[in-house]
Amino acid sequence: MTPSFFAGIDLQADSPVPLYAQLQLQIRRMIEEGAIACGDRVPSERQIAEWAMINRLTVRQALAALVNEGVLTRKRGLGTFVAQSKLEHGLVKLTSFTEDMHQRGMTPTSTVLSLKAIVAEPRVSLALELAHGEDVIVLERLRLADGRPMALEVSHLPCRRFPGFLTAGYNLAHHSLYDTLRRHYHAEFARAVEALEARSAVGREAELLGIMSGDPILVRERTTYDPTGVPLEHVRSLYRADRYRFVIEVVK
Ligand code: GLP
Repeated sequence: MTPSFFAGIDLQADSPVPLYAQLQLQIRRMIEEGAIACGDRVPSERQIAEWAMINRLTVRQALAALVNEGVLTRKRGLGTFVAQSKLEHGLVKLTSFTEDMHQRGMTPTSTVLSLKAIVAEPRVSLALELAHGEDVIVLERLRLADGRPMALEVSHLPCRRFPGFLTAGYNLAHHSLYDTLRRHYHAEFARAVEALEARSAVGREAELLGIMSGDPILVRERTTYDPTGVPLEHVRSLYRADRYRFVIEVVK
């Protein structure tokens, strides 16, 4: 890959476009044109700098911009690689975020932003088929894959069905919510109804997802039921639209 990588680089010192931006553009173009593929390792900063006879900081700036765009990804101790294209997410099989990421060979983690119990708001109460004034557990998590933010999720769970959840101290930063509920509450997730829509990210959610206010996100709302049809969770997930693509198989 290294010779074809270097063949794609042709920097013009007298161009009005800064060198780092030229490099950034040319590497992005090689990826788009398939000259370097997903998962390929990019030569080191030093190799690129020596080959192109430019300052290492210029190379660092170009690579950092591409990492920011999600085009390249850094693996600690291994180097910089061409990132996988958008994650494809099938909408037909009921899976958890943890299962989705494991299937792709990525490591899921979460930042737990809040965990509390409140009286369910009407929308949630309706979805979870709760009695008027019933409490729900609200769990807000930033979901990461290989340390990169992918989604922001707010899960609502009926307090009555999951007693002691708030105080049990489950390690939700490193463990799946579904696995936790299966193991400790014998919950079974059998069916879900989902709605998907697009909108622009605003304020805090954009900041947490690492995008700009106004960038597109996919909002996915889901109610998940046990095998007897009792609702177990109602979730709103905000996905970075640049990292996710939802795929549905339709049959006649
Ligand atoms: C997906 C679903 C959510 C669900 C979550 C559980 O992201 N859209 O509805 O709450 O998975 O994920 P995990 O078990 O990894 O915590």
